[in-house]
Amino acid sequence: MQTVKLDLAHAPYDIHIARDLLTQVELIKPLLLQPRVVIVSNATVAPLYLKPLQDALEAADIQCHSIILPDGEVYKTSETLNLIFDALLTERCERKTTLIALGGGVIGDMTGFAAAVYQRGVPFIQIPTTLLAQVDSSVGGKTGINHPLGKNMIGAFYQPRLVLADLATLDSLPLRELSAGMAEVIKYGLIDDLAFFEWLEANIERLMARETDALAYAVERCCQNKARIVAGDEKEQGQRALLNLGHTFGHAIESGLGYGVWLHGEAIAAGMMLAAYASRELDQISDDDIERIKTLLLKAGLPVKAPVLGHERYLDLMAQDKKVDAGKIKFVLMQCLGESYVGELSRDTIIAALDVGCAA
Ligand code: NAD
Ligand code: GLY
Repeated sequence: MQTVKLDLAHAPYDIHIARDLLTQVELIKPLLLQPRVVIVSNATVAPLYLKPLQDALEAADIQCHSIILPDGEVYKTSETLNLIFDALLTERCERKTTLIALGGGVIGDMTGFAAAVYQRGVPFIQIPTTLLAQVDSSVGGKTGINHPLGKNMIGAFYQPRLVLADLATLDSLPLRELSAGMAEVIKYGLIDDLAFFEWLEANIERLMARETDALAYAVERCCQNKARIVAGDEKEQGQRALLNLGHTFGHAIESGLGYGVWLHGEAIAAGMMLAAYASRELDQISDDDIERIKTLLLKAGLPVKAPVLGHERYLDLMAQDKKVDAGKIKFVLMQCLGESYVGELSRDTIIAALDVGCAA
């Protein structure tokens, strides 16, 4: 088992990475404030992984309730969040009851937000079951829900007490979801880790074949990178914004098409290409760099062309991004391959990037 530590002064926690962690209740039990948990999952993940987790917890004398939500980004809403509150109140869950998120990023984000606000805050644990959630969303404490007017617009920074990334759960992940997670993996290489980007170029076939050693290395490396960035800037006052590479364009794609039409990771892949084209417009990366990024994304089964929404629609959607500051849209751009920064783009540069980066 590999362990990455997230060294936040007020709330340090461990991210454990290995196969078959789901039933290792000895990792969970010492963290509970009372021998009672509520597992939040969805209609796809629960039939696969709820019973082994629940059986293991109950065998360790921990009382378990479960809440099964409908599956999908389209359900990452205040209505679904209320289903969690309804169940917690019906079961008379207390301040010391721990919530466990068992699922992908949608379940993790919603459970974390419910934990942040139920009785003004109860402990929670992340058991991420998608690649995307293992390398990104379960780590760092961003929680929340979507609003019809913008993605992840309602939420809180609220850290889990523990993250258990069980690599065996990735065996059942649909290929399209594996690819979506790979977009966030590639993102870490582009943000500030050229050596990892080069490792990915050499090992993408092994990752797509789900070789355990390759997956374990990639998840650990991504979590190390994320833990370092979050430990330095928990509330995104500075460098944490780099984790949003591809997201200004990507969130516009997701809300512009309707949540769930493109997967989050797919939108981020096309969004990273748009950020790359904008960076090339600024003479910061080369045609060769563009080809390397595109080749890696294609080998990961990801889209490299963004959908045509219309320039004005893109600009309008991006004007609602959380990074907008005094009305100015901020983008994560590439200074060179493997080095990024937060900057602004002229309207002409945005349009030039959209012209080359959107499907004809
Ligand atoms: P998801 O949670 O919708 O999961 C993808 C699909 O895979 C779902 O249908 C799910 O039921 C299914 N699934 C999950 N685990 C499975 C398994 N082991 N086997 C079979 N099927 C499984 O999507 P996601 O890609 O995990 O997460 C995307 C969400 O994460 C978005 O809402 C995004 O905004 C959010 N996100 C949050 C952060 C953060 O820092 N909090 C970072 C990145 C993304
Ligand atoms: N996924 C972006 C962040 O956690 O900051």
